[in-house]
Amino acid sequence: MAQLWGGRFTKETDQFVYDFNASISFDKRLLPQDIRGSIAHVTMLASAGILTDAEKDEIIKGLNGILADVQIGSLAIDETCEDVHSFVESNLIDRIGDVGKKLHTGRSRNDQVALDMRLYVRDELHRLQEILLTYMKTLHGLMKEHLHTYMPGFTHLQKAQPLTFAHHLGAYMEMAKRDYGRLTDILKRMNVCPLGAGALAGTTYPLDRELTASLMEFDGPTLNSMDSVSDRDYVIEALSAASTLMMHLSRFSEEIIIWNSDEYKFIELDDAFSTGSSIMPQKKNPDIAELVRGKTGRVYAALTSILVTMKGIPLAYNKDMQEDKELTFDALDTVSSCLTLFTEMIATMRVNKDRMKQSATGGFTNATDAADYLVNHGVPFRDAHGIIGRLVLTCIERGISLDELPLSDYKEISPVFEEDIYEAISLSTCVEKRNTIGAPGPAAMQKVLDANEAYLTSIAN
Ligand code: ARG
Repeated sequence: MAQLWGGRFTKETDQFVYDFNASISFDKRLLPQDIRGSIAHVTMLASAGILTDAEKDEIIKGLNGILADVQIGSLAIDETCEDVHSFVESNLIDRIGDVGKKLHTGRSRNDQVALDMRLYVRDELHRLQEILLTYMKTLHGLMKEHLHTYMPGFTHLQKAQPLTFAHHLGAYMEMAKRDYGRLTDILKRMNVCPLGAGALAGTTYPLDRELTASLMEFDGPTLNSMDSVSDRDYVIEALSAASTLMMHLSRFSEEIIIWNSDEYKFIELDDAFSTGSSIMPQKKNPDIAELVRGKTGRVYAALTSILVTMKGIPLAYNKDMQEDKELTFDALDTVSSCLTLFTEMIATMRVNKDRMKQSATGGFTNATDAADYLVNHGVPFRDAHGIIGRLVLTCIERGISLDELPLSDYKEISPVFEEDIYEAISLSTCVEKRNTIGAPGPAAMQKVLDANEAYLTSIAN
Protein backbone atom coordinates (compact mmCIF):
# COMPACT_ATOMS: atom_id res chain seq x y z
CA MET A 1 0.00 0.00 0.00
CA ALA A 2 1.48 3.29 -1.07
CA GLN A 3 -0.73 6.19 -0.10
CA LEU A 4 -0.34 9.94 0.12
CA TRP A 5 -2.35 10.64 3.24
CA GLY A 6 -1.26 8.43 6.21
CA GLY A 7 -0.50 11.32 8.62
CA ARG A 8 -3.76 11.72 10.51
CA PHE A 9 -4.57 8.02 10.62
CA THR A 10 -3.81 5.69 13.53
CA LYS A 11 -4.70 2.42 11.84
CA GLU A 12 -3.64 0.82 8.61
CA THR A 13 -6.37 0.73 5.99
CA ASP A 14 -7.94 -2.67 5.64
CA GLN A 15 -6.61 -4.29 2.44
CA PHE A 16 -10.06 -4.88 1.03
CA VAL A 17 -11.04 -1.26 1.73
CA TYR A 18 -7.81 -0.12 0.14
CA ASP A 19 -8.40 -2.17 -2.99
CA PHE A 20 -12.03 -1.09 -3.22
CA ASN A 21 -11.00 2.56 -2.98
CA ALA A 22 -8.04 2.36 -5.35
CA SER A 23 -8.30 3.43 -8.97
CA ILE A 24 -4.80 2.69 -10.30
CA SER A 25 -5.95 -0.38 -12.21
CA PHE A 26 -7.85 1.89 -14.58
CA ASP A 27 -6.67 5.47 -14.09
CA LYS A 28 -3.12 4.41 -15.05
CA ARG A 29 -4.36 5.21 -18.52
CA LEU A 30 -4.26 8.89 -17.53
CA LEU A 31 -0.48 8.82 -17.07
CA PRO A 32 0.37 11.01 -20.11
CA GLN A 33 -2.26 13.57 -19.12
CA ASP A 34 -1.17 13.48 -15.46
CA ILE A 35 2.45 14.12 -16.42
CA ARG A 36 1.47 16.89 -18.82
CA GLY A 37 -0.60 18.59 -16.11
CA SER A 38 2.20 18.30 -13.56
CA ILE A 39 4.75 19.80 -15.94
CA ALA A 40 2.44 22.76 -16.57
CA HIS A 41 1.82 23.09 -12.84
CA VAL A 42 5.50 23.24 -11.83
CA THR A 43 6.30 25.54 -14.76
CA MET A 44 3.67 27.92 -13.41
CA LEU A 45 4.91 27.47 -9.79
CA ALA A 46 8.42 28.54 -10.85
CA SER A 47 7.11 31.46 -12.87
CA ALA A 48 5.11 32.61 -9.83
CA GLY A 49 8.23 32.35 -7.63
CA ILE A 50 6.87 29.43 -5.58
CA LEU A 51 9.56 27.03 -6.85
CA THR A 52 13.08 27.90 -8.03
CA ASP A 53 13.94 27.33 -11.66
CA ALA A 54 16.41 24.63 -10.63
CA GLU A 55 13.70 22.78 -8.69
CA LYS A 56 11.30 23.10 -11.61
CA ASP A 57 13.88 21.74 -14.05
CA GLU A 58 14.69 18.78 -11.84
CA ILE A 59 11.03 17.93 -11.35
CA ILE A 60 10.24 18.22 -15.06
CA LYS A 61 13.21 16.01 -15.94
CA GLY A 62 11.97 13.42 -13.46
CA LEU A 63 8.40 13.57 -14.79
CA ASN A 64 9.53 13.19 -18.39
CA GLY A 65 11.71 10.29 -17.28
CA ILE A 66 8.73 8.50 -15.71
CA LEU A 67 6.64 8.84 -18.87
CA ALA A 68 9.48 7.76 -21.15
CA ASP A 69 10.35 4.76 -18.97
CA VAL A 70 6.74 3.61 -18.82
CA GLN A 71 6.36 4.05 -22.57
CA ILE A 72 9.48 2.04 -23.45
CA GLY A 73 8.53 -0.60 -20.90
CA SER A 74 11.45 -0.21 -18.51
CA LEU A 75 9.15 1.00 -15.73
CA ALA A 76 6.00 -0.85 -14.77
CA ILE A 77 3.17 1.12 -13.19
CA ASP A 78 3.11 0.06 -9.56
CA GLU A 79 -0.42 -1.15 -8.97
CA THR A 80 -0.01 -1.10 -5.21
CA CYS A 81 -0.28 2.70 -5.44
CA GLU A 82 -3.73 4.10 -4.80
CA ASP A 83 -4.01 5.95 -8.08
CA VAL A 84 -1.96 7.27 -10.98
CA HIS A 85 -1.31 10.54 -9.14
CA SER A 86 0.21 8.73 -6.16
CA PHE A 87 2.28 6.55 -8.46
CA VAL A 88 3.79 9.54 -10.25
CA GLU A 89 4.56 11.40 -7.05
CA SER A 90 6.14 8.46 -5.26
CA ASN A 91 8.19 7.46 -8.29
CA LEU A 92 9.32 11.06 -8.69
CA ILE A 93 10.50 11.17 -5.07
CA ASP A 94 12.36 7.86 -5.60
CA ARG A 95 14.08 9.37 -8.62
CA ILE A 96 14.95 12.89 -7.55
CA GLY A 97 14.63 12.84 -3.76
CA ASP A 98 13.07 15.50 -1.55
CA VAL A 99 12.57 18.10 -4.24
CA GLY A 100 9.97 15.74 -5.69
CA LYS A 101 7.90 16.36 -2.56
CA LYS A 102 7.28 19.91 -3.79
CA LEU A 103 5.35 18.77 -6.87
CA HIS A 104 1.97 18.85 -5.15
CA THR A 105 2.34 22.42 -3.81
CA GLY A 106 -0.87 24.39 -4.33
CA ARG A 107 -2.71 21.46 -5.82
CA SER A 108 -5.18 18.79 -4.73
CA ARG A 109 -5.94 15.48 -6.39
CA ASN A 110 -9.42 16.88 -6.89
CA ASP A 111 -8.33 19.56 -9.34
CA GLN A 112 -5.59 17.24 -10.63
CA VAL A 113 -8.01 14.48 -11.62
CA ALA A 114 -10.49 17.02 -12.98
CA LEU A 115 -7.69 18.25 -15.23
CA ASP A 116 -6.46 14.78 -16.24
CA MET A 117 -9.91 13.64 -17.20
CA ARG A 118 -10.57 16.82 -19.15
CA LEU A 119 -7.29 16.47 -21.03
CA TYR A 120 -8.06 12.82 -21.74
CA VAL A 121 -11.57 13.51 -23.08
CA ARG A 122 -10.24 16.42 -25.12
CA ASP A 123 -7.54 14.19 -26.68
CA GLU A 124 -10.07 11.45 -27.40
CA LEU A 125 -12.59 13.80 -28.99
CA HIS A 126 -9.90 15.16 -31.29
CA ARG A 127 -8.96 11.59 -32.20
CA LEU A 128 -12.59 10.74 -32.82
CA GLN A 129 -12.92 13.74 -35.12
CA GLU A 130 -10.02 12.42 -37.17
CA ILE A 131 -11.67 9.02 -37.48
CA LEU A 132 -14.94 10.75 -38.41
CA LEU A 133 -13.11 12.70 -41.09
CA THR A 134 -11.82 9.47 -42.64
CA TYR A 135 -15.32 8.02 -42.46
CA MET A 136 -16.79 11.08 -44.17
CA LYS A 137 -14.13 11.02 -46.88
CA THR A 138 -14.99 7.39 -47.54
CA LEU A 139 -18.69 8.21 -47.77
CA HIS A 140 -17.91 11.15 -50.04
CA GLY A 141 -15.90 8.92 -52.38
CA LEU A 142 -18.72 6.37 -52.55
CA MET A 143 -21.26 9.10 -53.21
CA LYS A 144 -19.27 10.41 -56.14
CA GLU A 145 -19.04 6.91 -57.53
CA HIS A 146 -22.75 6.15 -57.23
CA LEU A 147 -24.45 9.29 -58.48
CA HIS A 148 -26.34 7.22 -61.07
CA THR A 149 -26.65 3.95 -59.16
CA TYR A 150 -30.42 3.56 -58.92
CA MET A 151 -32.00 1.84 -55.95
CA PRO A 152 -35.37 1.81 -54.27
CA GLY A 153 -35.91 4.15 -51.35
CA PHE A 154 -37.96 2.66 -48.52
CA THR A 155 -40.48 3.80 -45.98
CA HIS A 156 -41.83 1.22 -43.52
CA LEU A 157 -39.24 -1.07 -45.17
CA GLN A 158 -41.57 -1.10 -48.20
CA LYS A 159 -40.37 0.15 -51.55
CA ALA A 160 -41.43 3.78 -51.85
CA GLN A 161 -39.70 5.84 -54.54
CA PRO A 162 -36.56 5.34 -56.56
CA LEU A 163 -33.40 7.20 -55.67
CA THR A 164 -29.67 6.63 -55.92
CA PHE A 165 -27.15 4.93 -53.72
CA ALA A 166 -25.29 8.26 -53.53
CA HIS A 167 -28.43 9.86 -52.13
CA HIS A 168 -28.93 7.11 -49.56
CA LEU A 169 -25.30 7.41 -48.43
CA GLY A 170 -25.74 11.18 -48.41
CA ALA A 171 -28.21 10.82 -45.55
CA TYR A 172 -25.48 9.19 -43.44
CA MET A 173 -23.08 11.91 -44.54
CA GLU A 174 -25.41 14.54 -43.08
CA MET A 175 -25.57 12.62 -39.80
CA ALA A 176 -21.77 12.39 -39.70
CA LYS A 177 -21.47 16.14 -40.32
CA ARG A 178 -23.75 16.78 -37.35
CA ASP A 179 -21.77 14.31 -35.23
CA TYR A 180 -18.58 16.12 -36.12
CA GLY A 181 -20.13 19.50 -35.33
CA ARG A 182 -21.34 18.26 -31.96
CA LEU A 183 -17.79 17.27 -31.04
CA THR A 184 -16.53 20.71 -32.12
CA ASP A 185 -19.16 22.36 -29.90
CA ILE A 186 -18.21 20.23 -26.90
CA LEU A 187 -14.50 20.81 -27.42
CA LYS A 188 -15.07 24.54 -27.43
CA ARG A 189 -17.24 24.57 -24.31
CA MET A 190 -15.03 22.23 -22.29
CA ASN A 191 -11.78 23.99 -23.11
CA VAL A 192 -11.21 25.66 -19.74
CA CYS A 193 -8.64 24.59 -17.19
CA PRO A 194 -9.69 23.44 -13.70
CA LEU A 195 -6.16 23.20 -12.29
CA GLY A 196 -5.63 25.69 -9.50
CA ALA A 197 -9.07 25.11 -8.00
CA GLY A 198 -7.37 23.10 -5.25
CA ALA A 199 -9.52 20.75 -3.24
CA LEU A 200 -12.56 23.02 -3.73
CA ALA A 201 -11.69 26.54 -2.58
CA GLY A 202 -8.60 27.61 -4.49
CA THR A 203 -5.36 28.25 -2.60
CA THR A 204 -3.56 31.07 -0.85
CA TYR A 205 -0.50 30.62 -3.08
CA PRO A 206 -0.28 33.25 -5.80
CA LEU A 207 -1.00 30.73 -8.57
CA ASP A 208 -1.06 32.09 -12.10
CA ARG A 209 -4.01 30.15 -13.41
CA GLU A 210 -3.98 31.97 -16.72
CA LEU A 211 -0.48 30.69 -17.35
CA THR A 212 -1.34 27.11 -16.35
CA ALA A 213 -4.29 27.21 -18.71
CA SER A 214 -2.32 28.56 -21.65
CA LEU A 215 0.49 26.05 -21.14
CA MET A 216 -2.03 23.30 -21.89
CA GLU A 217 -3.79 25.15 -24.69
CA PHE A 218 -6.93 25.90 -22.75
CA ASP A 219 -8.83 29.09 -23.54
CA GLY A 220 -8.54 30.15 -19.89
CA PRO A 221 -9.10 28.99 -16.32
CA THR A 222 -12.45 27.83 -14.94
CA LEU A 223 -14.20 30.54 -12.91
CA ASN A 224 -15.56 28.75 -9.86
CA SER A 225 -13.32 26.47 -7.87
CA MET A 226 -16.17 24.32 -6.53
CA ASP A 227 -17.59 23.78 -9.99
CA SER A 228 -14.09 23.11 -11.33
CA VAL A 229 -13.60 20.01 -9.21
CA SER A 230 -17.13 18.68 -9.48
CA ASP A 231 -18.00 19.36 -13.10
CA ARG A 232 -18.28 16.31 -15.34
CA ASP A 233 -20.69 17.90 -17.84
CA TYR A 234 -18.13 17.48 -20.60
CA VAL A 235 -18.04 13.71 -19.94
CA ILE A 236 -21.82 13.61 -20.20
CA GLU A 237 -21.77 15.69 -23.38
CA ALA A 238 -19.03 13.53 -24.89
CA LEU A 239 -20.94 10.33 -24.10
CA SER A 240 -24.15 11.84 -25.40
CA ALA A 241 -22.49 12.77 -28.70
CA ALA A 242 -20.90 9.31 -28.78
CA SER A 243 -24.30 7.72 -28.21
CA THR A 244 -25.85 9.70 -31.06
CA LEU A 245 -22.97 8.77 -33.34
CA MET A 246 -23.40 5.09 -32.40
CA MET A 247 -27.14 5.35 -33.03
CA HIS A 248 -26.33 6.49 -36.58
CA LEU A 249 -23.79 3.72 -37.09
CA SER A 250 -26.23 1.20 -35.70
CA ARG A 251 -28.95 2.22 -38.17
CA PHE A 252 -26.43 2.06 -41.00
CA SER A 253 -25.30 -1.37 -39.76
CA GLU A 254 -28.88 -2.56 -39.81
CA GLU A 255 -29.17 -1.49 -43.46
CA ILE A 256 -25.86 -3.12 -44.35
CA ILE A 257 -27.12 -6.35 -42.79
CA ILE A 258 -30.36 -6.18 -44.78
CA TRP A 259 -28.62 -5.22 -48.05
CA ASN A 260 -26.06 -8.00 -47.58
CA SER A 261 -28.77 -10.65 -47.08
CA ASP A 262 -29.46 -13.25 -49.77
CA GLU A 263 -32.92 -11.76 -50.28
CA TYR A 264 -31.58 -8.31 -51.13
CA LYS A 265 -28.02 -8.83 -52.39
CA PHE A 266 -27.63 -5.05 -52.88
CA ILE A 267 -24.10 -5.28 -51.54
CA GLU A 268 -21.61 -7.96 -50.64
CA LEU A 269 -19.32 -7.47 -47.71
CA ASP A 270 -15.69 -8.32 -48.21
CA ASP A 271 -14.56 -11.66 -46.77
CA ALA A 272 -12.31 -9.76 -44.37
CA PHE A 273 -15.40 -8.24 -42.74
CA SER A 274 -17.47 -11.41 -42.60
CA THR A 275 -17.26 -14.60 -40.64
CA GLY A 276 -18.35 -18.16 -41.21
CA SER A 277 -20.49 -20.58 -39.27
CA SER A 278 -19.07 -23.54 -37.40
CA ILE A 279 -21.85 -25.78 -38.71
CA MET A 280 -23.33 -24.25 -41.88
CA PRO A 281 -20.68 -24.22 -44.61
CA GLN A 282 -22.58 -21.82 -46.87
CA LYS A 283 -22.69 -18.97 -44.34
CA LYS A 284 -20.94 -15.63 -44.60
CA ASN A 285 -22.19 -13.53 -41.75
CA PRO A 286 -22.05 -9.74 -41.36
CA ASP A 287 -20.67 -9.97 -37.82
CA ILE A 288 -18.88 -6.62 -37.81
CA ALA A 289 -22.06 -4.73 -38.66
CA GLU A 290 -23.94 -6.77 -36.06
CA LEU A 291 -21.31 -6.03 -33.42
CA VAL A 292 -21.41 -2.31 -34.16
CA ARG A 293 -25.19 -2.45 -33.75
CA GLY A 294 -24.78 -4.47 -30.56
CA LYS A 295 -22.07 -2.33 -29.00
CA THR A 296 -24.25 0.74 -29.34
CA GLY A 297 -25.98 -0.47 -26.18
CA ARG A 298 -22.87 -0.27 -24.02
CA VAL A 299 -22.21 3.31 -25.11
CA TYR A 300 -25.79 4.25 -24.16
CA ALA A 301 -25.21 2.43 -20.86
CA ALA A 302 -22.15 4.58 -20.14
CA LEU A 303 -24.17 7.74 -20.72
CA THR A 304 -26.98 6.54 -18.46
CA SER A 305 -24.50 5.45 -15.83
CA ILE A 306 -22.68 8.78 -15.58
CA LEU A 307 -25.96 10.68 -15.52
CA VAL A 308 -27.18 8.54 -12.63
CA THR A 309 -23.84 8.81 -10.81
CA MET A 310 -23.84 12.61 -10.99
CA LYS A 311 -27.46 13.29 -10.11
CA GLY A 312 -27.21 13.02 -6.33
CA ILE A 313 -23.76 14.38 -5.62
CA PRO A 314 -23.59 17.47 -3.39
CA LEU A 315 -20.85 20.01 -4.12
CA ALA A 316 -17.97 19.67 -4.36
CA TYR A 317 -15.78 16.59 -5.02
CA ASN A 318 -17.11 13.23 -3.87
CA LYS A 319 -15.57 9.85 -4.53
CA ASP A 320 -18.56 8.79 -6.61
CA MET A 321 -16.91 10.74 -9.40
CA GLN A 322 -14.13 8.18 -9.63
CA GLU A 323 -16.79 6.10 -11.40
CA ASP A 324 -16.55 8.40 -14.42
CA LYS A 325 -13.41 6.72 -15.73
CA GLU A 326 -13.94 3.09 -16.67
CA LEU A 327 -17.19 3.75 -18.46
CA THR A 328 -15.77 6.74 -20.33
CA PHE A 329 -12.67 4.82 -21.39
CA ASP A 330 -14.76 1.89 -22.52
CA ALA A 331 -17.34 3.96 -24.38
CA LEU A 332 -14.80 6.11 -26.22
CA ASP A 333 -12.70 3.03 -27.12
CA THR A 334 -15.86 1.37 -28.40
CA VAL A 335 -16.89 4.30 -30.57
CA SER A 336 -13.48 4.75 -32.14
CA SER A 337 -12.99 1.06 -32.90
CA CYS A 338 -16.52 0.71 -34.27
CA LEU A 339 -16.14 3.75 -36.50
CA THR A 340 -12.71 2.67 -37.74
CA LEU A 341 -13.88 -0.83 -38.65
CA PHE A 342 -17.16 0.38 -40.09
CA THR A 343 -15.29 2.75 -42.42
CA GLU A 344 -13.09 -0.05 -43.72
CA MET A 345 -16.12 -2.30 -44.08
CA ILE A 346 -18.00 0.13 -46.34
CA ALA A 347 -14.84 1.01 -48.26
CA THR A 348 -14.36 -2.64 -49.21
CA MET A 349 -17.95 -3.77 -49.81
CA ARG A 350 -19.03 -4.59 -53.36
CA VAL A 351 -22.06 -2.72 -54.63
CA ASN A 352 -24.36 -4.75 -56.83
CA LYS A 353 -25.69 -1.98 -59.11
CA ASP A 354 -27.72 -4.30 -61.35
CA ARG A 355 -29.51 -5.86 -58.45
CA MET A 356 -30.32 -2.45 -56.95
CA LYS A 357 -31.63 -1.18 -60.27
CA GLN A 358 -33.73 -4.28 -60.82
CA SER A 359 -35.24 -3.84 -57.36
CA ALA A 360 -35.94 -0.15 -58.03
CA THR A 361 -37.76 -1.09 -61.23
CA GLY A 362 -40.25 -3.37 -59.50
CA GLY A 363 -42.54 -2.54 -56.63
CA PHE A 364 -44.32 0.43 -58.24
CA THR A 365 -41.73 2.92 -57.03
CA ASN A 366 -42.82 5.12 -59.98
CA ALA A 367 -46.49 5.27 -58.95
CA THR A 368 -46.10 8.78 -57.51
CA ASP A 369 -44.55 9.95 -60.77
CA ALA A 370 -47.45 8.44 -62.70
CA ALA A 371 -49.84 10.44 -60.52
CA ASP A 372 -47.70 13.55 -61.06
CA TYR A 373 -48.07 13.01 -64.84
CA LEU A 374 -51.84 13.37 -64.46
CA VAL A 375 -51.44 16.42 -62.25
CA ASN A 376 -49.25 18.01 -64.93
CA HIS A 377 -52.19 17.45 -67.30
CA GLY A 378 -54.66 19.23 -65.06
CA VAL A 379 -56.03 16.35 -62.97
CA PRO A 380 -56.27 17.25 -59.23
CA PHE A 381 -53.72 15.25 -57.21
CA ARG A 382 -56.29 13.40 -55.09
CA ASP A 383 -58.10 12.15 -58.24
CA ALA A 384 -54.78 11.25 -59.84
CA HIS A 385 -53.85 9.24 -56.72
CA GLY A 386 -57.08 7.23 -57.05
CA ILE A 387 -56.60 6.60 -60.79
CA ILE A 388 -53.05 5.34 -60.39
CA GLY A 389 -54.10 3.23 -57.42
CA ARG A 390 -56.61 1.44 -59.66
CA LEU A 391 -53.97 0.96 -62.38
CA VAL A 392 -51.54 -0.48 -59.81
CA LEU A 393 -54.22 -2.96 -58.80
CA THR A 394 -54.68 -3.98 -62.46
CA CYS A 395 -50.92 -4.48 -62.80
CA ILE A 396 -50.76 -6.57 -59.61
CA GLU A 397 -53.55 -8.80 -60.93
CA ARG A 398 -51.69 -9.29 -64.21
CA GLY A 399 -48.25 -9.59 -62.61
CA ILE A 400 -46.78 -6.68 -64.57
CA SER A 401 -45.34 -3.25 -63.80
CA LEU A 402 -46.74 0.17 -64.70
CA ASP A 403 -44.09 0.40 -67.43
CA GLU A 404 -45.50 -2.78 -69.04
CA LEU A 405 -49.18 -1.77 -68.94
CA PRO A 406 -50.47 -1.10 -72.48
CA LEU A 407 -51.48 2.47 -73.36
CA SER A 408 -55.04 1.26 -74.04
CA ASP A 409 -55.44 0.39 -70.36
CA TYR A 410 -54.13 3.80 -69.39
CA LYS A 411 -56.49 5.52 -71.80
CA GLU A 412 -59.44 3.51 -70.67
CA ILE A 413 -59.21 4.95 -67.20
CA SER A 414 -58.22 8.47 -68.28
CA PRO A 415 -58.07 9.97 -71.79
CA VAL A 416 -55.31 12.29 -70.60
CA PHE A 417 -52.67 9.55 -70.95
CA GLU A 418 -50.51 9.57 -74.09
CA GLU A 419 -47.45 7.64 -75.24
CA ASP A 420 -45.15 9.94 -73.23
CA ILE A 421 -46.41 8.37 -69.98
CA TYR A 422 -43.73 5.68 -70.38
CA GLU A 423 -40.99 8.26 -70.55
CA ALA A 424 -42.51 10.11 -67.57
CA ILE A 425 -42.44 7.03 -65.36
CA SER A 426 -39.16 5.54 -66.54
CA LEU A 427 -36.66 4.89 -63.76
CA SER A 428 -34.19 7.39 -65.14
CA THR A 429 -36.83 10.16 -65.38
CA CYS A 430 -38.05 9.42 -61.86
CA VAL A 431 -34.56 9.83 -60.45
CA GLU A 432 -32.79 12.24 -62.77
CA LYS A 433 -35.59 14.84 -62.74
CA ARG A 434 -35.79 15.10 -58.96
CA ASN A 435 -33.53 18.06 -58.60
CA THR A 436 -34.93 20.22 -55.82
CA ILE A 437 -32.37 20.96 -53.12
CA GLY A 438 -31.63 17.77 -51.18
CA ALA A 439 -33.33 15.46 -53.71
CA PRO A 440 -31.65 12.45 -55.38
CA GLY A 441 -31.40 13.90 -58.91
CA PRO A 442 -27.75 14.01 -59.98
CA ALA A 443 -27.84 17.77 -60.64
CA ALA A 444 -29.06 18.37 -57.09
CA MET A 445 -26.64 15.80 -55.71
CA GLN A 446 -23.72 17.42 -57.50
CA LYS A 447 -24.37 20.64 -55.59
CA VAL A 448 -24.35 18.70 -52.34
CA LEU A 449 -21.12 16.96 -53.34
CA ASP A 450 -19.52 20.34 -54.05
CA ALA A 451 -20.65 21.68 -50.68
CA ASN A 452 -19.39 18.52 -48.94
CA GLU A 453 -16.07 18.78 -50.71
CA ALA A 454 -15.63 22.34 -49.43
CA TYR A 455 -16.74 21.25 -45.95
CA LEU A 456 -14.27 18.36 -45.83
CA THR A 457 -11.44 20.64 -46.91
CA SER A 458 -12.40 23.22 -44.30
CA ILE A 459 -12.39 20.77 -41.40
CA ALA A 460 -9.24 18.99 -42.55
CA ASN A 461 -7.29 22.23 -42.10
N1 ARG B 1 -9.00 8.55 -8.00
C1 ARG B 1 -9.70 9.73 -7.70
C2 ARG B 1 -10.78 9.98 -8.75
O1 ARG B 1 -10.70 9.41 -9.73
C3 ARG B 1 -8.74 10.89 -7.63
C4 ARG B 1 -9.20 12.03 -6.77
C5 ARG B 1 -9.09 11.64 -5.36
N2 ARG B 1 -9.45 12.72 -4.48
C6 ARG B 1 -9.75 12.48 -3.24
N3 ARG B 1 -10.08 13.50 -2.50
N4 ARG B 1 -9.73 11.29 -2.71
O2 ARG B 1 -11.69 10.72 -8.56
